[in-house]
Amino acid sequence: MSAGEKPKIGVFGAGWVGLVTGACFAELGHEVVVRDVLPERIAALESGRVPLHEPELPELLERNRERLTFTLEVDDAVSAPIMFVCVGTPPTYSGDADLSAVWTVVDQLPELEERAILVMKSTVPVGTGEKVRAALDARGLAHVGYVSNPEFLSEGSAVRDFMHPDRVVVGAFTEADGAAVTALYEPLETTVVQADVASAEMIKLAANAFLMTRISFINEIANVCEATGADVVKVAEGVGLDHRLGPHFLRAGIGWGGSCFPKDGVALKQLASNSGYHFQLLNAVIEVNELQKRRVIQKLQRHLGSLRGKTVTLLGLAFKPNTDDIREAPSLVLAGRLVAEGAEVRAWDPVADGAVALPRAKICADPLEALEGADAAVLVTEWHQLAELDWREAAKRMRNPLLIDGRNMLDPAELRASGFTYDGIGRAAGLV
Ligand code: UDX
Repeated sequence: MSAGEKPKIGVFGAGWVGLVTGACFAELGHEVVVRDVLPERIAALESGRVPLHEPELPELLERNRERLTFTLEVDDAVSAPIMFVCVGTPPTYSGDADLSAVWTVVDQLPELEERAILVMKSTVPVGTGEKVRAALDARGLAHVGYVSNPEFLSEGSAVRDFMHPDRVVVGAFTEADGAAVTALYEPLETTVVQADVASAEMIKLAANAFLMTRISFINEIANVCEATGADVVKVAEGVGLDHRLGPHFLRAGIGWGGSCFPKDGVALKQLASNSGYHFQLLNAVIEVNELQKRRVIQKLQRHLGSLRGKTVTLLGLAFKPNTDDIREAPSLVLAGRLVAEGAEVRAWDPVADGAVALPRAKICADPLEALEGADAAVLVTEWHQLAELDWREAAKRMRNPLLIDGRNMLDPAELRASGFTYDGIGRAAGLV
């Protein structure tokens, strides 16, 4: 590599983190090799198809086609001096993170002659870096550096989050390795938090746990609002304006889902208990979320009585808008509970494919079609299409125009004027 030239980057894993990372580094001028083990995924990417729904990502991949290579070969990825590990770390039965894909990457590294750095972007338990370091040393790869550089990408805005990060965290065993990874982010003009490896690993887990705590906190406040006649939307506004608290992650609703929070929350809980510490607050945060997903059923029962034979439409399936991800989505729990109560479930989502995950639900291509003759609707995902829906028409089409707004997305007064019985989360003041 000549002076001033940007180092080539290898990426292990063409999933959501790997593709965003690879595409963004290519956009910053690096040659990038993305390696995955799934032939169909690599074939799709080579032919210009993006296997997941993420805004801006297709454009970025297309624009940087010449700098991006997709491969099944380990050797292609290890030709880069800096290699990012972006493989999945799903939960195991015990709740611990499954690191088998991480270890496969480490074990597959060939006898590298040149100096190289392995950069961990996958979310891993604290202490993983130490273990990988020891494994590399044991394999005679002491000249391969190890850096923890966790991702803070939010699905649906991942490209923007990468290009405009609040901060970049770099945890390294040596100053030189830390500096090499820090240099990659120089064009982004952000704050870089230099840390030891364990602290970098913990920053990621703690940040996610704190975000979950805020959501469960405001959801519990919402539940108390319902019991006492306050409106959580107003309450969150008033609380969030305190500069010590801030307005983010104070939207009450039917709970979090997705590929990160559920997995990382449980992984941190297990990490603590494996070390002999009972993380009471986190346990409560997780439990509140489980209960929150189910409260909608009680709301429906309050309005409809028994749900047996009633038709309930789920508006949105994805765990949040602008993604097709339904992993751990509240919609799955809701659909399961509704079926258990004997209800007929209809569902609509503009991008998420519910056919496989919700085999007992009737999936509709259009929200009005999904609402035809229904006894109730639950707004599960705050898709913009729902803000723009003709709710007056929707009310006419339903057998019983009842809407449980699981995201407090819509204006209660407008919905009521359209003919709906409207019930949000934590909005007791307006209950009809
Ligand atoms: C999250 C973290 O934000 C990100 O930094 C990390 O790297 C991965 O996990 P993501 O899972 O994409 O990102 O979604 P996020 O926007 O954080 O939302 C998670 C869930 O919380 C969603 O189900 C969302 O609906 C819910 N949520 C979010 C609320 O219920 N209320 C809020 O105020 C905010």
